[in-house]
Amino acid sequence: MRTEPDMKLIVNVSKEWAIGKGNELLFHFSKDMKFFKDHTTGNVIVMGRKTLDSLPGGRALPNRTNIVLTKNAGFERSGVTVCHSADELKDVLKGYDSDSVYVIGGESIYKLLLPYCDTAYVTKTDAPAPDGADAFMTDLDSDTDWEILECSEEFTEKGLSFKFLTYKRKTS
Ligand SMILES: NC(=O)c1ccc[n+]([C@@H]2O[C@H](COP(=O)([O-])OP(=O)(O)OC[C@H]3O[C@@H](n4cnc5c(N)ncnc54)[C@H](OP(=O)(O)O)[C@@H]3O)[C@@H](O)[C@H]2O)c1
Repeated sequence: MRTEPDMKLIVNVSKEWAIGKGNELLFHFSKDMKFFKDHTTGNVIVMGRKTLDSLPGGRALPNRTNIVLTKNAGFERSGVTVCHSADELKDVLKGYDSDSVYVIGGESIYKLLLPYCDTAYVTKTDAPAPDGADAFMTDLDSDTDWEILECSEEFTEKGLSFKFLTYKRKTS
């Protein structure tokens, strides 16, 4: 969170950029889990309190610096650095190389921090979201500030196809 956007974002989306339902992910692909782990291990991950709660056991992810946003002044969780506002997060992130910072969700945190990101790793499924999907990411295909830099081949798991796309913020 410096003057220029320089953080990364990583997300798994449906065809319509839905990302969750009932505080759970919509899709679980082993190849995508590995992609997420490979990118974030050894790095800094920034998430909202609800996303932390959605992780197995509500626990911090191992081998990563876990930073969690909450407005709850008394919030504590083992292995987690807690920030209570975007300003506090900004101060905390000054201590890390921006190249190592990944925004990992959920909806409110993607929206809050998208203006500070210049790269988005998007695992995009060609399947529609299930009924009742209630969390969404900004559609970067319709956002003129962003363009696709790279697109992987198509993979299939559980009968669903998906691709790994890298979006870059356009430079003016
Ligand atoms: N598809 C994906 O790649 C992906 C990745 C991650 C999450 N998700 C999904 O996204 C959904 C969760 O998204 P969400 O928007 O409901 O929750 P979230 O963004 O994970 O967390 C929201 C919480 O973050 C805290 N927060 C938000 N803005 C803040 C600010 N400016 N200052 C301080 N604290 C702040 C608040 O915590 P308090 O209430 O404690 O104050 C708020 O309730 C779930 O369905 C999850 O599975 C999907």
